[in-house]
Amino acid sequence: MSLTFYKILHVAAVAWLFAAMGGSLLAGSDNERARKLGGMSHGIALIVALVAGFGALAKLGIDGMPGWVIAKVVLWVVFGAVAMVPRRAPQLAVPVFFALPVLAGVATWLAVAKPF
Ligand code: HEM
Repeated sequence: MSLTFYKILHVAAVAWLFAAMGGSLLAGSDNERARKLGGMSHGIALIVALVAGFGALAKLGIDGMPGWVIAKVVLWVVFGAVAMVPRRAPQLAVPVFFALPVLAGVATWLAVAKPF
């Protein structure tokens, strides 16, 4: 697979991940469809984004884990934890919803600028 393939897969999975997080955060945990479709999409998109991200990394010839990759993995874990918000901390749903585009911006900056 090419670098282009991995990058498109990575960004497409990230788009799906954000659709899942947005839907689940706004619908709340008592919405059956959001819980099932949102939960399933969240899990699959997370895995695909991770695999495609590391695929792109390998194609770029980057060995090991530079700081910007570690920071992206930390963000990836944070996005994983967002799945717990509707059920465990519903009062955080709206602030988390508005924090998501800011964190997406940080993740994109890390990939584009590779600042450390
Ligand atoms: C799980 C760990 C992650 C790894 C290993 C990873 C790795 C990568 C790599 C290698 C690139 C290509 C950089 C280049 O072409 O120079 C990339 C691009 C990108 N990543 Fe990630 N990423 C991860 C998580 C995320 C997350 C959580 C987001 C969420 C917003 C994200 C958003 C993006 C975007 C928007 C790009 C496109 C930037 C571009 O190539 O122009 N990544 N990522």
